Amino acid sequence: MSMVLKSTAERAEVWGRLFAQYLPDVPFRVWPDIGDPAEVEYLATWVPPENLLELFPNLKILFSVGAGIDQFDLSRIPPHVQVVRTIETGLTDGMVAYVQFAVRAIQRDMLRYIHQQRQHVWRALPVRSASQFRVGVMGLGQLGVPVAQSLQGMGYVTQGWARSRHVIDGVKCFAGEAERTEFLATTDILVCLLPLTAQTTGILNRDLFAQMPRGAALVQCGRGRQMVMDDLVAALDEGQLSAAILDVTDPEPLPADHPLWDRPDVLITPHIASSTPAESGGMTIINNIRRYLNNEAPVGLVDRAMGY
Ligand code: NDP
Ligand code: OXD
Repeated sequence: MSMVLKSTAERAEVWGRLFAQYLPDVPFRVWPDIGDPAEVEYLATWVPPENLLELFPNLKILFSVGAGIDQFDLSRIPPHVQVVRTIETGLTDGMVAYVQFAVRAIQRDMLRYIHQQRQHVWRALPVRSASQFRVGVMGLGQLGVPVAQSLQGMGYVTQGWARSRHVIDGVKCFAGEAERTEFLATTDILVCLLPLTAQTTGILNRDLFAQMPRGAALVQCGRGRQMVMDDLVAALDEGQLSAAILDVTDPEPLPADHPLWDRPDVLITPHIASSTPAESGGMTIINNIRRYLNNEAPVGLVDRAMGY
């Protein structure tokens, strides 16, 4: 039995130490030095090698080093291989901090001030309080729930939407397609924290933007392919949306001549909203292998049928 990590040099260094200390019975190897491929039962990676199954015939768990698993082609991974994503507090804390920043920047007109600065303009805009904004979080999962709770704590009127019914103190929750229209109609700042699935591909489109109040804003932290980029440009041009903060785009990065780069009403960050810290990420995998060896389900086991 062995474990292979295919990731960054930093993770390799930290995880090597952690495995030696906390799981010495599971030999730890770093891609491409995989040892005997038939020994490999656990693989942790962002993007798996092309020929995953031929390479690792005895693979038991495929771990994503991030929260998402949309980079895996689930149809090519046999059902007996468990697919497990990363759930841990460092990743959550990073996302909460990013969304707090983005929502506050929109509330306090920071994109307009950055533009004014570029023009050497010194002009105060009316201050709008947090309580004047209704923030709607799409996706109430490991990230969406703490994000919604923190926004509520900051004084925003906070609501959330997910496939199933959720109950969160102080946060009005909407469920499913039937309640999406009402959720959107009462959302001034939309935060997307959905996973990428067949159902969520292209969900942020012209029709959805049109259902929001005129002048609403968007914070997109999910996945690039959830948004129809041309529809965003049109919604901003038409004034249906007033601002967008995008941590993910389609494609990533956008081509150098894409119209979104130069817009004063758009802030683009290079998919850095959050990532798994090396130390806690390594411990999460170690604890999950321990669970597996104790015949317990790993934390973050992906529901193949749901696709997330
Ligand atoms: P979870 O799987 O814990 O939560 C997903 C949420 O989305 C759930 O509430 C789920 O509903 C909801 N959902 C899924 N499909 C639908 C649908 N069709 N309609 C309505 N709601 C739906 O995921 P996480 O919170 O851990 O992560 C969310 C995503 O954030 C990741 O998949 C990834 O794409 C993105 N991410 C981005 C990062 C970045 O740096 N930009 C970093 C980390 C993650 P229900 O509760 O009913 O199941
Ligand atoms: C993730 C990400 O899914 O960084 O963890 O996008």
